[in-house]
Amino acid sequence: MELSRRTVIAGAAAAGITAGLTGGTAHATAGGRPVKSLFGKLADGTKVYRWSLENGGTRLKVLSYGGIVQSLEIPDRRGRHANVSLGFDNLDDYVASSPYFGALIGRYGNRIGQGRFTLDGTAYQLSVNDGEQSLHGGAQGFDKHVWDVEPFTDGSDVGLHLYYTSVDGEMGYPGTLRTKVTYTLTRHGDWRIDYEATTDKPTVVNLTSHVYFNLAGESSGTIYDHELSIDASRYTPVDAGLIPTGELARVAGTPFDFRRAKAVGRDIRVAHPQLLYGKGLDHNWALDKGITRRPESVATLRDPSSGRTMRIATTEPGLQFYSGNFLDGSLVGTGGTVYRQGDGLCLETQHFPDSPNKPHFPSTVLRPGQTYRTTTVHSFSA
Ligand code: GLA
Repeated sequence: MELSRRTVIAGAAAAGITAGLTGGTAHATAGGRPVKSLFGKLADGTKVYRWSLENGGTRLKVLSYGGIVQSLEIPDRRGRHANVSLGFDNLDDYVASSPYFGALIGRYGNRIGQGRFTLDGTAYQLSVNDGEQSLHGGAQGFDKHVWDVEPFTDGSDVGLHLYYTSVDGEMGYPGTLRTKVTYTLTRHGDWRIDYEATTDKPTVVNLTSHVYFNLAGESSGTIYDHELSIDASRYTPVDAGLIPTGELARVAGTPFDFRRAKAVGRDIRVAHPQLLYGKGLDHNWALDKGITRRPESVATLRDPSSGRTMRIATTEPGLQFYSGNFLDGSLVGTGGTVYRQGDGLCLETQHFPDSPNKPHFPSTVLRPGQTYRTTTVHSFSA
């Protein structure tokens, strides 16, 4: 069906969603229904939409492609909004060359060594797409699929349900995985992510979100002055392929100690062997609280210049902190400037990397009849 201005599309009619004609012009009202507009088309003609949501001072723009957060605007201490997430202003760049900007990651966020694991005595070979490893679900991860999106309003909350079904064997993973991710903006402006999945065969799953944050605003330079605290006394050191060695090392006395807030750039040039592997910080912190029933506060990121502060609460036991080391000046971002090393950072709540091969790490196995459920909440203030 061709969309025209003021056309109420079938699936959204019940919710009263009005479809705009083109990208770039649709605005949501605070606490109002999400607004949909066309963002672009894939090579096969599939339309990709952008949904705009606003609540409690936070503005979120989400693509049906990859569930990508294309823009996240929050106010500074004077109430001025800026887009604090790295990304592109067009679909082609997301398809051609995105280092997972803003995307939903599955089936397995982070790396699985040599893309191999054994479950219940059966060996599986996954898609290998990062040297010898499988990274972020393989060559065609969840970030490269079009999701079904359903907008909702619920009391004072507004949000989107995103659905993707990954068929048995996709990227080498066993079982049909039915995934539902819910993005909610609360009336306080919190952005909450609820992940759910079920399977019809034993499998492994580790879903996360890959937003690159720069609280001073994307295209404003590096994040090295941002102050970060992470509630973790241990992290998982890696080998040269960025696969955990299996050790749970103490952060005390190392550049990995973020138990008290410190500038991201303070220790990033320390000649520590672990910093050489990832060209900076690119590690999983083993959160002191471990797996929790309700989201618990685990990390705080603050930009002193704007006052913008983000608190992360999660039910997950791990946090991958990646300091944007592989951004190399080859991509032009949403604001029209080139992204260079350290221009954004990721805080990916998750289970630990390579858990399918590390029996002493918290398990990522999902079995038929079980429901995978994790939650992460981003709260903003200035
Ligand atoms: C993750 C990894 C990094 C890198 C980025 C994408 O955060 O930990 O090593 O691969 O994704 O560039």
